[in-house]
Amino acid sequence: MKDKRYNAVVTGVGMYVPERIYDNSYFEKIVDTSDEWIRTRTGIRERRILENGGTSVLATKAAEDLLKSKNLSPEEIDVIIVATVTPDMFFPATACLVQDNLGAKKAWGFDVSAACSGFLFAFQTGCSLVESGNYKKVLVIGADKMSSIVDYTDRNNCILFGDAGAAVLIEPTDDKKLGLQDSLLRCDGSGKDVLYMKGGGSANPPTHETVDQKMHVLFQDGKAVFKVAVKGMADISYDLMKKNNLSSDDIAYLVPHQANLRIIDATAERMGITREKVMINIDKYGNTTAATIPLCLVEYYRDGKIRKGDKLILASFGAGFTWGASFLVWGMD
Ligand code: UT7
Repeated sequence: MKDKRYNAVVTGVGMYVPERIYDNSYFEKIVDTSDEWIRTRTGIRERRILENGGTSVLATKAAEDLLKSKNLSPEEIDVIIVATVTPDMFFPATACLVQDNLGAKKAWGFDVSAACSGFLFAFQTGCSLVESGNYKKVLVIGADKMSSIVDYTDRNNCILFGDAGAAVLIEPTDDKKLGLQDSLLRCDGSGKDVLYMKGGGSANPPTHETVDQKMHVLFQDGKAVFKVAVKGMADISYDLMKKNNLSSDDIAYLVPHQANLRIIDATAERMGITREKVMINIDKYGNTTAATIPLCLVEYYRDGKIRKGDKLILASFGAGFTWGASFLVWGMD
């Protein structure tokens, strides 16, 4: 990574998951599936569903949790970046809604659309703002209300997703050994035909036909995505470790996007990282798209499992395709 004025370090975390739980037995009642199939093929046992409101509710509550735990005033926040593919609406950006909900009167902000890699892309962006010395407190939130774009008659996909929001605060430090050290991020739009939601945008504005053709719900060719996800996530994580002279022994945790436990295991195996050093909570929340990685960070940190100085590799793969890995040294006691 190029010379920078400061390092960008995570100094606060927050999360929100809705109370309503859909466990696997719920899906046994609405589609032709079984708890056994879902658990063994995906690792998911249950997921949370937001009943009222949009993604801004998830993002705001995660940010409020962070501010409360840091005893921080919303007016101290300089920038709010929300990673999401389920914004409340096309515009205004969900970041603006969060700004207003929080009363973050001195902040500017915007949304990042990079699907399951949204958090990593937003995190890199937020860190760059801090590294330049121009901004001191940047809130990066990953939040998705996937239940708003899931077709609950499609057994291939409806069992996979859940709703959640999680946030990190990024601040500058002079200690170059802490915080974001390096990232490798990629996108490849040739993946657009296997994971998408085609309706509602400028190419296919909403009409009765687009609704009838189910163009306003997510489509995924799971098998096609599975193969590229394992290779994409493992290769880029391996390249990042090599570039930074890291062996698997140096890594405290791999923090992978939570799409499928089999993808997570295969990625870890290719990196030579054992299960104990992989953050996993897909069993409780399913795939929450932009929220999975920060949700893992919050839970593991609050459980006392991450310590200052721990080396983490954050890795993701998602629609676009988008994928990447970031090398982060944890900076909080
Ligand atoms: O987060 C963004 C990136 N997304 C991903 O990384 C997801 C990648 N893909 C996956 O995680 C997996 O491909 C899935 C979990 C989506 C599917 O698992 P799979 O092992 O690839 O299953 P499959 O699609 O090959 O389907 C195997 C069988 C099929 O039946 P036949 O054709 O063999 O008779 C499916 O129809 O399983 C059937 N099936 C189901 N059976 C029971 C598909 N969904 C279900 C279901 N319950 N919910």
